[in-house]
Amino acid sequence: MKTFTYNAQPSRVVFGSGTSRTVADEVLRLGRSRVLLLTGHDVAEPATEVARALGDLLVARFDGAAMHTPTQVTEEALASARAHDVDCVVSVGGGSTTGLSKALAVRAGYDQVIIPTTYAGSEVTPVLGETENGVKTTRSSADILPETVVYDVDLTVGLPPAITLTSAINAMAHAVEALYAPEANPVTDQLALEAIRGITQGLPKVMADPSDLDGRGELLQAAWLSGSCLAAVGMGVHHKLCHALGGGFDLPHSQMHTVILPYAMAYNAPAAQDVMRRIAQVMRVPDAAAGVHDLVASLGGPTSLAELGFTVDDIPKAAALATARPYPNPRSVTVDGISALLADAVAGSRPGGGNAFPRAELDRMSRAVVASFAGTEDPRLHTLMTDLVRRAHDFVTSNDLTTAEWEFAIDFLTRTGQVCSDVRQEFILLSDTLGISTMVDILTNSRVREQTPSAVLGPFYVEGPPAVRSGADLAEGLPGVPMWVDVAVTNPDGTPLPDAIVDVWQSNEDGFYDVQLPDLDGPVLRGQFRTDADGRLRFWTILPCEYPIPDDGPVGQMLDGVGRHPFRAPHVHFMISASGHRRLITQLFPSDGAYLTSDSVFGVKHNLIVDMPEHRGPTPDGRVVDGAWRRLDFTFRIAPDA
Ligand code: BEZ
Ligand code: FE
Repeated sequence: MKTFTYNAQPSRVVFGSGTSRTVADEVLRLGRSRVLLLTGHDVAEPATEVARALGDLLVARFDGAAMHTPTQVTEEALASARAHDVDCVVSVGGGSTTGLSKALAVRAGYDQVIIPTTYAGSEVTPVLGETENGVKTTRSSADILPETVVYDVDLTVGLPPAITLTSAINAMAHAVEALYAPEANPVTDQLALEAIRGITQGLPKVMADPSDLDGRGELLQAAWLSGSCLAAVGMGVHHKLCHALGGGFDLPHSQMHTVILPYAMAYNAPAAQDVMRRIAQVMRVPDAAAGVHDLVASLGGPTSLAELGFTVDDIPKAAALATARPYPNPRSVTVDGISALLADAVAGSRPGGGNAFPRAELDRMSRAVVASFAGTEDPRLHTLMTDLVRRAHDFVTSNDLTTAEWEFAIDFLTRTGQVCSDVRQEFILLSDTLGISTMVDILTNSRVREQTPSAVLGPFYVEGPPAVRSGADLAEGLPGVPMWVDVAVTNPDGTPLPDAIVDVWQSNEDGFYDVQLPDLDGPVLRGQFRTDADGRLRFWTILPCEYPIPDDGPVGQMLDGVGRHPFRAPHVHFMISASGHRRLITQLFPSDGAYLTSDSVFGVKHNLIVDMPEHRGPTPDGRVVDGAWRRLDFTFRIAPDA
């Protein structure tokens, strides 16, 4: 269990298409009426629309927001704000414009309505970074957090594809690092994974068609979620390294984040395996770091630091900067480690090597196969085939299955079929040992209340067992501990069921069923009883013992391969049929038997474990037993037919 602290950041978020038209309502909602509109030079069109929507509330406009939030620019904007006696700032733009808004708010206490046009995410954080005389400082406070964020997907449609890509991967980096941050918690984990999923899905759509509103919506929503992660947890090696590269080499912000992210992930992967597995799962790729690299490469984004003008000669200085101060990161951050990371990033080599994972082609294939079932008349067959193929394809792709592995699987199944005969069913054994038989059994039989639980049939049932009268000895003198069985069959309400047919079968003291012993003449340790007027039957047998399921075939090889033993917990099988009632197939397990918690076919159910206590002396039917004998008393409840 993890201990954590989580501060939800209290912003109001308005999300959708055309939402910026409601900006005046949002200002009024805050109780404000004199707005300074902040923008950069690159968002003239959206800013004009927002200005129009503000109407009379707009009293001043400042178009000079700049990168890294220089304090000199802030002072200029502040002078304008004071001159116009504003009580609220509305910003339209990317991280720089949001930064200016925050810088004004922290100085003069203005309320803020932020309308982001990129995927920066800073609009939902209480953090402000500023530069004064080239020195960058960062601070965090509740006054800095914007009151309201209006996400209008329409305003992001004009974001050029190249910036769309790098801005989205920059957002993804917040989500990735949130997952392995020391402060990570269930809320940020979910936000981060959903953000990564949204970017992985939305980015290819938007790059193919920049006006795709659904894709744009996915990206903007992911940006909000990533920003929320950024607001709640600290960042690791990716961000510290980018900070060093940005400060020491003046590399362009979002391009640099885009190049570094897969290498930072590959660096941390050995120390954050579970996080990388979860990321790979939502990205639907076998490896998270390579998956991010492939996503960027497939969309024509920057994949090497060389493209950004950074060379191998710059590595020593960058590695020194990035390791100057210690900070939390899953894997310890060393000069050698960062140098190797940077060398890969300069080269742009794919993490883990190999060619790109062909996700798009695989998805096309899956869709084609699923589409081929469109003509299925039986709706249940259609559902099962479609789901089976989808999951099988997912299994193949998420495990990056090789041809050799698939050939092995085909050969395994072929051999499984070849072993099957009249007296051997290896496929059922496979289903049993993989727990599938018991799962289907639970689904089929566990929903009938008050009925004795069922258990797998197993391969050793033989149709038409010999009729045996109550009181007989099923063991007929075989070695073993004698056991007196006294069972009743009743309705769920306890009413006895006379004339119920009860088939019983079990293995001998050595763990063999009669059908496994070719020298035996006729059935042994199996029989068919009929309950008496009180719904009861009694017989002698021997205490069952553990035995290995047949393990000389493919199933045995599988068990061996995964280090499992082949033993079944000791049990007696029962099959009970009574007219007007559901048939019950089940087993009873002595509570002092072996393997109760590791039964090789997962057949043991809690309510089927029964005390079969030891006795000495007189027996219920007066039979003379030399030494100890056991006793099994049990009532089977069977449900009427539905
Ligand atoms: C049995 O109990 O007889 C059995 C059940 C499943 C697989 C093998 C044996
Ligand atoms: Fe059995």
